Amino acid sequence: MGYNLLKGKRGIIFGALDENSIAWKTALRVKEEGGSFTLTNAPIALRMGKINDLAKQCDTVVVPADATSEQDLTALYQKSMEVLGGKLDFVLHSIGMSPNVRKDRSYGDLNYEWYLKTLDISGLSFHKVMQTAEKTDALNEWASVVALTYIAAQRVFPDYSDMAQAKAVLESIARSYGYRFAKLRKVRVNTISQSPTKTTAGAGISGFDVFFDYAQMMSPLGNASAEDCANYIILMFSDLSKMVTMQNLMHDGGFSTTGITQDLIDKLTAK
Ligand SMILES: NC(=O)c1ccc[n+]([C@@H]2O[C@H](COP(=O)([O-])OP(=O)(O)OC[C@H]3O[C@@H](n4cnc5c(N)ncnc54)[C@H](O)[C@@H]3O)[C@@H](O)[C@H]2O)c1
Repeated sequence: MGYNLLKGKRGIIFGALDENSIAWKTALRVKEEGGSFTLTNAPIALRMGKINDLAKQCDTVVVPADATSEQDLTALYQKSMEVLGGKLDFVLHSIGMSPNVRKDRSYGDLNYEWYLKTLDISGLSFHKVMQTAEKTDALNEWASVVALTYIAAQRVFPDYSDMAQAKAVLESIARSYGYRFAKLRKVRVNTISQSPTKTTAGAGISGFDVFFDYAQMMSPLGNASAEDCANYIILMFSDLSKMVTMQNLMHDGGFSTTGITQDLIDKLTAK
């Protein structure tokens, strides 16, 4: 059910690949809340063609953009303002990719060209998304920019590999650009640190099922689903969270502040 929380707001949603994507679920919720937006993804991801189904459902268009290309991003902002009829109020950065993780390279045998790609696509692109927004003067006052991250930025999850550094960069950029944007035009910038979620990016991490189950056991409320995450993003895009900025917001059912749970004790002591 919608509450019209985003009525009259315009934005861009990066990263909807298929029905499991957090960005996909978010697009459907934003639509339900009365917001309008363009969808975007890397040209290579668009070849799968699924995003066009989502665009139809949301009555919008897809504008291809590689999030590492300033040229693509500039064209994306210009096109989005044209299609939506004005400046933007929200941007979702829901992008992650590591060639080293994909190819299962061990942390002691990383390919550095791929490492730089990981940092560029999954971390630095967040800066590019905001710098381009600033240069194209694309954001309204009190606009809300959100990126998705994972707790491996703070704690070691060995199979997350070079993505851990990319997420640390991403979270740091949120603080630095959050400061700049707040002073410039009261735009707010936050990251949401989401529970393990069964999506293409999630399942690409080796041992994902084990740490999904572990996190489930270690979170007093259980893992937050992609739908829960979409709801939280709606809150962050709405005026109800107007004074929240430069934060890394834990959306994890309590995982990050739990030392041990009875569920885990029971499992470890089960004969
Ligand atoms: N799934 C999880 O367990 C989990 C947990 C915490 C945070 N996250 C984060 O959530 C975000 C969304 O991931 P998801 O789980 O929905 O998976 P997903 O695979 O559905 O989404 C990742 C998206 O990144 C896009 N992408 C990759 N390279 C790109 C580029 N160069 N330019 C533009 N887009 C590009 C992909 O096409 C894809 O749409 C990511 O930042 C991910 O790290 C995921």
